[in-house]
Amino acid sequence: MSFHESIKVESEVAEVAENWFNDEAYYEYAEKNVDDFWKPSSAFRLKFAHLDVRNVLELACGRGRHSWVMRDWGNRKTLVDIVPANIDFCRNRFRDHNDVSFLANDGKSLDPLPNEVFTSVFSYDAMVHFDHLVIYSYLLEIHRVLRPGGMALLHHSNYAANPGGKYTLNSHWRNFMPPGLFYDYCLKAGLNIVEQTVIPWGEHQQIDCLSLIVKPA
Ligand SMILES: C[S@@+](CC[C@H](N)C(=O)[O-])C[C@H]1O[C@@H](n2cnc3c(N)ncnc32)[C@H](O)[C@@H]1O
Repeated sequence: MSFHESIKVESEVAEVAENWFNDEAYYEYAEKNVDDFWKPSSAFRLKFAHLDVRNVLELACGRGRHSWVMRDWGNRKTLVDIVPANIDFCRNRFRDHNDVSFLANDGKSLDPLPNEVFTSVFSYDAMVHFDHLVIYSYLLEIHRVLRPGGMALLHHSNYAANPGGKYTLNSHWRNFMPPGLFYDYCLKAGLNIVEQTVIPWGEHQQIDCLSLIVKPA
């Protein structure tokens, strides 16, 4: 049995997905603020430059605002999200682009995507809310789908309080992910850390982390 089949986190996964199903206010705000991630000086953009984006997978894509930035880059893009309505939205958004694929997944795995096909993976503004076991499951899957030498850029929580508690009680709905745990999970999943940068969100200076990781060649 694979790890994602063994973990019993269905209620946590369902709750996170539920919180971004049809949240029009969030998606409208997010669309207007996409430049926070893509302006040349942002920590996201500087690290993104390390990725080989010829065949890129975006995990937890929402309505596709990040991959939309790449719409005319001529690269292959695969957009994955647990909420089928988000994937439907993306299908319509990218209807005039034939280099994009879509997957509504199970919230823990990248089934049925094949092994070792992607040159890079990224995820912004989503994993910060995921249970750390779900993140470990995705790290195993990212290792599976990345080509050797491929990199992933993942935006995750750096929040050490409220272990075992509900993430919606935490500041900015950050899930429990104490410093060092993500690093440990990467190594256990066969991935190496290239660099990690602790980043602020809102009023908190150290609440999030951006990790650039690599599958050894
Ligand atoms: C805050 S939104 C961010 C969307 C997108 N990353 C962006 O920045 O616009 C969080 C996204 O994570 C998705 N999501 C929640 N839980 C998930 C899971 N376990 N696996 C994959 N996607 C998930 C939600 O459906 C939603 O699209």
